[in-house]
Amino acid sequence: MRALPRLLAALIVAVPLATVTAVANAADDPTPVTVLTKDFEDGTVQGFAGRSAETLAHSTAQAHGGTGSLLTSGRTATWQGPSLDVLPTFTKGTAYTVSVWVRLSTGSDNARLSVERRTGGVAAYDQVVGNTAVSSTGWTQLTGRYTLATDVEFLRLYVETASTTNPIHIDDVTASYVPALPIQTDIPSVKDVITEFPVGAAITGAEILAEHGQLLTKHFDSVTPGNALKWDATEPAENTFTYAQADPLMAYAKSKGLAVRGHTLVWHNQTPAWVFTGADGQPMTATAEDKALLLARLENHIRNVAAHYGTDITVWDVVNEVIDESQSDGLRRSNWFTVAGLDYIRTAFRVAREVAPHAKLFINDYNTNVAAKRDFLFGLVQQLKAEGVPIDGVGHQVHINVNWPTVAETKAMIDKFVPLGIDQQVTEMDVSIYTANSENFPAPPADRLLKQAYVYRDMFALFRQYPGEITSVTLWGLADDNTWLDTFPVTRKDAPLLFDTRLQAKSAYWGVVDPSKIETTSSPSPSNPTTGACAVTYRVTGSWTGGFQGEVTVTNSGGTALTSWNAAWQFTGGQRITQLWGGTLTQSGAAVTVGNASWNGSLAAGASASFGFLANWTGSNPVPAAFSLNGTACTVR
Ligand code: XIL
Repeated sequence: MRALPRLLAALIVAVPLATVTAVANAADDPTPVTVLTKDFEDGTVQGFAGRSAETLAHSTAQAHGGTGSLLTSGRTATWQGPSLDVLPTFTKGTAYTVSVWVRLSTGSDNARLSVERRTGGVAAYDQVVGNTAVSSTGWTQLTGRYTLATDVEFLRLYVETASTTNPIHIDDVTASYVPALPIQTDIPSVKDVITEFPVGAAITGAEILAEHGQLLTKHFDSVTPGNALKWDATEPAENTFTYAQADPLMAYAKSKGLAVRGHTLVWHNQTPAWVFTGADGQPMTATAEDKALLLARLENHIRNVAAHYGTDITVWDVVNEVIDESQSDGLRRSNWFTVAGLDYIRTAFRVAREVAPHAKLFINDYNTNVAAKRDFLFGLVQQLKAEGVPIDGVGHQVHINVNWPTVAETKAMIDKFVPLGIDQQVTEMDVSIYTANSENFPAPPADRLLKQAYVYRDMFALFRQYPGEITSVTLWGLADDNTWLDTFPVTRKDAPLLFDTRLQAKSAYWGVVDPSKIETTSSPSPSNPTTGACAVTYRVTGSWTGGFQGEVTVTNSGGTALTSWNAAWQFTGGQRITQLWGGTLTQSGAAVTVGNASWNGSLAAGASASFGFLANWTGSNPVPAAFSLNGTACTVR
C-alpha cells in the first residue's frame, strides 16, 4: 500500500524544497492569471532551448492547436528535452498551474514535466508531473501545480522521457496562478480553542511563506517536516548528510516558537537504495555481515541526524510503519526486517535515546484503528518495553476518510494503549473526501465536506477526552492546496484538511473549533427542485488557435429561490473544457454540466451566478444553441 514512487532519480542531490501537487479542476477558484503561453504559431521556438546539445526547431509536422509545434530531436539521453527559462516568470511562494501538451514523433514512452533550479550553483530537480504515457499517435497533456519555495539563480521548466530518446513535440505550454486571498484573521485560532494538547501541521518548504506562514502560525502550535527529515533528504549518499531541505523549516519553526516533531529516522520508504546494498554491491540478505553493516549505517544515520538538531526536536518518530497485519507475526517484511530482524528497531531506539535523551521517542503507524494491526502493534510495544527498549509513545497516523473509521473504533484504538503507560499522539491526521479509489470529483461535493466537518468534530471531541494521554494532534498538511492525497493512492484532487485551496476556513475547521457553526458555514445540499425559468448569457472572452476562454452567467428568473444549480449544454464543435472556475464541471463527450461551486449555490429569485472556463477546440467553435438550468430550458441572452 505504501509503495510510493521515488520522486527523484537525480544524479545531484535532489532537494524537494518546492512542492508539487497534481492538479484537478480548481473549480472553486476564481479567474486564474496566465503568466506563460507558448503556442508555436509564429514559426520560432519561442525561447525554448535544449538541456544539452539537442536540436530544437519549429515544426508543422504536428500541432496540438493551430499549425505549429516545437520539435526537439537529436536527444542522446532521456533527460534531454525542451526547456524554458522561467526565472523571470515564476515568483517564490506562488502556486502555478503548468500545462504542456506532448507527442512523440515515433513510438511511445513515459514523459515527465520537471523544474531544474539552482541555488549557489547546486542543482535540484522538482517533478511537476510524474511519468505519463505519451506516444506518436496523439497528444497528451501534462499538467500539475508548482510552487517555488526557495531563492534561486536558475530556474528552467523541462520535459524529459523515461526510457527512449525519440524526438518530442510539445505545444500549447501555459502557466497560470490564482491570486492569493488574505487569511481570515477574525476567526478563532485552532490552538487557542484546543487546549488539551498542542495541535500541529505537516509542512513543506511552501508552507512557511507569505499567507501560508501566516495561517500556520495563527492556528498551530507545532510542525512536522513532511519529507525534509526522511533518510533520502538527509543522507542521500553514505555518510553525506544534507540538511538543505530541513534547515529552513527548522529555523522558521524556532523563530516562530513552533515545536517540531521529527519524522522519521527509520522507514521502508524514501530510503536510498545504498542503505540496503552490501559491501559486495549486492542487495543485502540475512547474513551476519550484512546485518552488522546495516545496523552500523542505521546507528551512524541516527547519531548524525538527531545530533544535528539537538534539543530543537522534542519528539522523534524513531520507526515508522513497521507493522503488517497480513503477516502471521504482524511484522512488516521490509528490507530492515529481512536483514536485521527486530534488532533494527532495538538499535534505532537505543541510539536515539543516547543522542537525544531529551526527546520523546515514538513508534508510528497507520491504520492503528484496525483491530488486528492495533493488536500487533500493542504486542510489539509491550514486548520491546519489557526488554527495556526506550519507547515513549505510540503515534497514530489517522489517515482516514469521511466514512471510515467509526468513532468507536478510534476510541478502542486509544483505549488499547492506555495500560502501557506511554504517550499517544495523532501524528498525520487527514480526512479524505473519497471513500473509494474509483471516485474522482472535479470539486469537493457539499455533502462530503459536511460529512468531513462531522468527522473532524467527532474525532477532536474524542481526542479531547484523553488529556495527558494524547499529547499532541498533528494534521498532515496545512491547507487543501498542498496535500499528499492529491497523488495517493491515485491522482485526483482531494480536500482533506481544515482550510481550502485558498486558505479559507472550511466547515471542517468549524467542526474542530465550534461545531454549532458547521451548518451555517456549509453549502446547501445539491438536491434542488426545478423552478421553471432561467436566462443564460454565454460569452467567449478570449480565443486563440486551439483554445478559448468563456464566461457563462445563469440567472434564476423563476419565482423560487434555488439552493443549488446545474447548468447544461452541448458543445457540438468538439470543444473540451480543460479548466473551470466558479462551478463544478462534468463533461461527457459533447454534454457539459456545470454545478454550483460551494459558495455560489444559493440563487434567490432574480439572482445570477457566473462561472468561467478554458477550453480546447479544433476546427470551429460554435456557440451552444440551448442551455438548461436545473433541467429547465433557458432563454439565451
Ligand atoms: C508522505 C509525504 O507527505 C509525501 O509528500 C511523500 O511523497 C510521501 O510521504 N505516512 C507517513 C508519511 O508516515 O511520511 C507520508 O508522507 C504519508 C504516509
